[in-house]
Parts: sequence; C-alpha cells; structure tokens
Amino acid sequence: MRHFTNVKDLGNLNEAVHEALRIKQDRYAFQHLGKNKTLMMVFFNSSLRTRLSTQKAGMNLGMNTMVLDINQGAWKLETERGVIMDGDKPEHILEAIPVMGSYCDVIGVRSFARFEDKSFDDQETILNQFIQHSGKPVFSMEAATGHPLQSFADLITIEEYKKKDRPKVVLTWAPHPRALPQAVPNSFADFMNEADVDFVITHPYGYELNKRFVRDAVVEYDQMKAFEGADFIYAKNWAAYQDPNYGKILCEDRSWTVSSKQMSVTNDAYFMHCLPVRRNMIVSDDVIESTNSLVIPEAANREISAQTVLKRILESL
Ligand code: CP
Repeated sequence: MRHFTNVKDLGNLNEAVHEALRIKQDRYAFQHLGKNKTLMMVFFNSSLRTRLSTQKAGMNLGMNTMVLDINQGAWKLETERGVIMDGDKPEHILEAIPVMGSYCDVIGVRSFARFEDKSFDDQETILNQFIQHSGKPVFSMEAATGHPLQSFADLITIEEYKKKDRPKVVLTWAPHPRALPQAVPNSFADFMNEADVDFVITHPYGYELNKRFVRDAVVEYDQMKAFEGADFIYAKNWAAYQDPNYGKILCEDRSWTVSSKQMSVTNDAYFMHCLPVRRNMIVSDDVIESTNSLVIPEAANREISAQTVLKRILESL
C-alpha cells in the first residue's frame, strides 16, 4: 500500500480486518519494519484519539514520530495557487509540503472540510496536495470527505462484538450545535457497504449524504423504524451536504438524540460513536454509560487500524 485515503486502499476488507486482529494479539511483532523510519503527523485540526493512537501505532512498529500542528507554532499556510500573499499567511503549502516530506518516510494528514467551497472539499485538495508534492506515502487522519482510519477501527470493533454472521448496522444522524463535516458518516457508509452487514442510514430530510458513499444502502427517514431489530447503532452528526445547503444546520430536533427509547426497539444493540461526543445532544448519559456502549473499545481499536495501515505502508517502502 502506497497511500491510504479510503476503503479501496485496503484491498480485501475481510483479510484486512483479520490482519488487524492478528496484530492486536502481538502488536510489537513488527518493530523491525519501522527501524530508522520517521512518521510525520500533520494536523490542520484538533485531535485527541487520532493523534495519540496513530503515534502509538508508529511506536509499536519501531518508528520515530513527529507531530506538527499547523495552527499552533507553525507558519500559517496559504493553500490556494495564484493568491497574492500579502495577508496573514507567510508560507505556501506548495513549499511547506516538500520540506515536510524531506524530513520523514510516511506522512499522516488531518484536514477537515472547510465548508467554504464544496468542490475544494469534495476534491480533497489538501490531502491530494500532500500526495502530489511530498514524495512520500500519505495516509488520511480524517480529511474533507472521509475518515477511513476511524471506519476501519469501527469495522474491527463490529467484527469483535457481532453475535451473528450478518448483523444489522444502523448509521443515525443526531443533533449537534455546530455544523460538522460528513467525513465520518461518508467513510462509515463506504466501509459498511463493503462489509458483510445489513446497512441502514437514517436522518432527517435534507441530510442526504453524497451518493458516492451511500451507494445502494437503505435510507430510512423514520428513525424508530430504522432502529427496529438493529444489532449496532452508530450515531453521528453531520451538516447538510446537498446544495444549496452545503455545510448548514437544517434540523435541531432533539427527538433524534439516541436514548433508551430508541434503543428499546433494537435487538439489544451495541451503541457506537467515534468520539468526541456531546452527551444529551447525540446520545443520552444512560445509553453511552450502558454495558452496550462500545465507544471505549472502538477508540482503543484506532491504534490497531492505524498500525495495520502503517505496517502495510512500511512493507511497501
Ligand atoms: N474519532 C476521532 O478521530 O477523534 P479525534 O478527533 O479526537 O482524533
């Protein structure tokens, strides 16, 4: 694997999940792969889990790791070509990227959707600039349209906890006070559409995701109906994707908050969320604190998804 930006880069998904589960059993077995190799993690946005789990994954593989927060301590970067740089951004990303590439062997990038220009976000402009100009393998640590390391960890978690061969998995929109990107639900849909699950997406009207990720998944606008018989509930907020409302909040209906009422019609479903989560907006205290909540093991599996991806990248060097 050279770059990792979406589910397709993993090839056979079932094999990737089982490789991840083997790595989890003996996570220090591949330290030779990372000897004298440097991982650089570049953050344009905040992070807790991605920062720590990916750094840990690199260390498990014997790598040296460096973290750069673009908005804290680094020069502000101009990202558009043709701009007269007389403002507050003293460095252009087209110089910064090859410089960063010269100091490392593998680069992870976090760069969220900005909701300023839909095509800039849809084209994954920042991530692709790193792929084009760094000269190094690049992996997404959540970009504008996807968060594949998260979805890979989610699928590993579903594989560990499922009680039947083909569980019903429901992705549900839930309310949030801020406009959030579609990266997590997009990737989750991408992975679930490839996995051996019955996949249903539920959200209010107006929150339809990009068809490129939804593909042929069932979309059910009645949340209670969607939850019936579900084995896994995956909650997430996202802002509207479709024009003319791209990046906007259209619904603040708190009846979509996942509570024991919705969970009562499921098949004793597990609750999942990528974190960070706003309690009693996305999910009630009692559901997230219940024994059916997988949010902590799911976050712990971020180390394993990152290590599997990094291992494959190192094997390709
Ligand atoms: N789930 C996730 O990516 O968490 P962070 O934003 O804290 O990295």
